[in-house]
Amino acid sequence: MKVTVVGAGAVGASCAEYIAMKNFAAEVVLVDIKEGFAEGKAMDLMQTASLNGFDTKITGTTGDYSKTAGSKVAVITSGIPRKPGMTREELIGINAGIVKEVTANLVKHSPDVIIIVVSNPMDTMAYLVHKTSGLPKNKIIGMGGALDSARFKYRLAEALECPISDVDGMVIAAHSDTGMLPLMSKATRNGVPVTEFLDAEKQAYVEEETKVGGATLTKLLGTSAWYAPGAAVSVMVQSILCDHKKMIPCSLMLDGEYGQSDICLGVPAIIGANGVEKIVEIALTDAEKEKFETAAKAVREVNGDLKF
Ligand code: NAI
Repeated sequence: MKVTVVGAGAVGASCAEYIAMKNFAAEVVLVDIKEGFAEGKAMDLMQTASLNGFDTKITGTTGDYSKTAGSKVAVITSGIPRKPGMTREELIGINAGIVKEVTANLVKHSPDVIIIVVSNPMDTMAYLVHKTSGLPKNKIIGMGGALDSARFKYRLAEALECPISDVDGMVIAAHSDTGMLPLMSKATRNGVPVTEFLDAEKQAYVEEETKVGGATLTKLLGTSAWYAPGAAVSVMVQSILCDHKKMIPCSLMLDGEYGQSDICLGVPAIIGANGVEKIVEIALTDAEKEKFETAAKAVREVNGDLKF
């Protein structure tokens, strides 16, 4: 099956690389607006095929969406990352225009496509795709929770001084420094609540480092991260193409779930061949409910800056 990745920059190329390395897709089409860029990234990646042992065909195009026709999944990574001194409104203005145009092109050539939205501010960009694409809501999935949960597990394992494969945990609500909600009450180490191992101070450290995980990397790298975002997307794409029905926290259009409607927020969901197969409602503590509501309020304010 064919997967399109729009934006052949840091995150888009990483998505293409992880998808190809896992060898579950027939073809990955990279699209970029920069002349020759997607073609170059595709060629470079294809020259790793014999070295890394994958058969996925990777092609690139400068904006020719006819090459994306018949895609089962399309990933939108096109847009600019947040830079110091830039207002939220400016970021939304630039990325919303790009995401809207890209969505129209994708749907024109692949009317049954499932779209994974990565561009930031992601919860608002996912909302924009819902409002402009005409696609059913099970076919639009924002990527944030998969990445933030991986960062949560990284920090949990660090604090517990144990292998990452021993820990489990999930981050829901908004994909933002303040709106992320790492569910400490439900995190486990081999089935045992982590709260039995970590005191309040260590729990607060893990939560805070998870929430600023992206900002920490942006400071170190001078730009936002790409390996973990690309890997997170590849897990979501694989769950759709292989119908794995994995439970993954994603930014989804809510219709009463978690007490919210007409907003995209991170919640756990079963992701399979039909895209979003089921939103899973887990019981939140009163404190978690309050944080979820605060995150929703902040995302609604950003959504208010959208112009359709
Ligand atoms: P980048 O600058 O490396 O790549 C973006 C690419 O999009 C560039 O190659 C650019 O030429 C291309 N592009 C711009 N307009 C386009 C258009 N109209 N059509 C096709 N291509 C177009 O940026 P990077 O680091 O890859 O980040 C991409 C986006 O992903 C940013 O908005 C960033 O904030 C977001 N992001 C989201 C994450 C998440 O968890 N949801 C994680 C990491 C990044």
